[in-house]
Amino acid sequence: MNRKYRKTVIAGNWKMNKLASEVKPFVEELRGMMPKTKSCETVLCVPYPLIPAASKAIRDSRLAYGAQDVSVHDSGAYTGEVAAPMLADLGVKYCIVGHSERREYHAETDAMVNTKAKNLLAAGITPIICVGESLDQREKGLTMEYVDYQVKAALAGIEAKDVKKCIIAYEPIWAIGTGRTATAEQAEEVCCEIRSVIRGMYDARTARAVSILYGGSMNAKNCDELLAQPDIDGGLIGGASLKPQDFARIICGTALEEPWIR
Ligand code: PGA
Repeated sequence: MNRKYRKTVIAGNWKMNKLASEVKPFVEELRGMMPKTKSCETVLCVPYPLIPAASKAIRDSRLAYGAQDVSVHDSGAYTGEVAAPMLADLGVKYCIVGHSERREYHAETDAMVNTKAKNLLAAGITPIICVGESLDQREKGLTMEYVDYQVKAALAGIEAKDVKKCIIAYEPIWAIGTGRTATAEQAEEVCCEIRSVIRGMYDARTARAVSILYGGSMNAKNCDELLAQPDIDGGLIGGASLKPQDFARIICGTALEEPWIR
């Protein structure tokens, strides 16, 4: 983490889990365990139908809520799609794009990820752009090349002032939902590389302003080591964000670095 230049962000990705009626009890339990002082931006990315419940439960708290996907279109005859202005209208502040599950199961391409990020920025929503290599790519030594390409494709045509508003989440596919976390060194190496790609595309000032998260089996046990890395500015948490106690522990992990703020 480097709080001098950028925000620390802990975002929960609930994926397709929980019901609207479960949001309020979850938020109440979580709030009871959060650090006294704001140590990070905390976001719950919930399924679309849970957004109104999240908005209500989170009111007057230090939490924010987000979505998990958005359409490449802004309106029109696209049955089943949800557009960025609709999310903004519901008070959504963050939205995940390019998650590996969407890339894999919904054929989301790099060009689509780029369009979605632009649509979100135009609607005033922060995109959380996911990138990450497969196990096969890692074993073949292609991690950096592939992640560099994904970052460049996702940010193509986005101006520096807007890139500063984006969040990048490095999520190695082999670590998602597998319990097999990247080591802190592996995660830092790629997050540092992502920052250097942004530096190359823009400039040092822009690169140091972008929050880069790690995601992939981050949990209450391994979070401290990951969050202690200089280029890891938080986490995108799947499984562990479904349990208030585990999620709260990760949020508290962002306060450990600076014990005086507790
Ligand atoms: P996980 O999921 O924490 O359950 O591995 C992370 C994600 O998919 O964002």
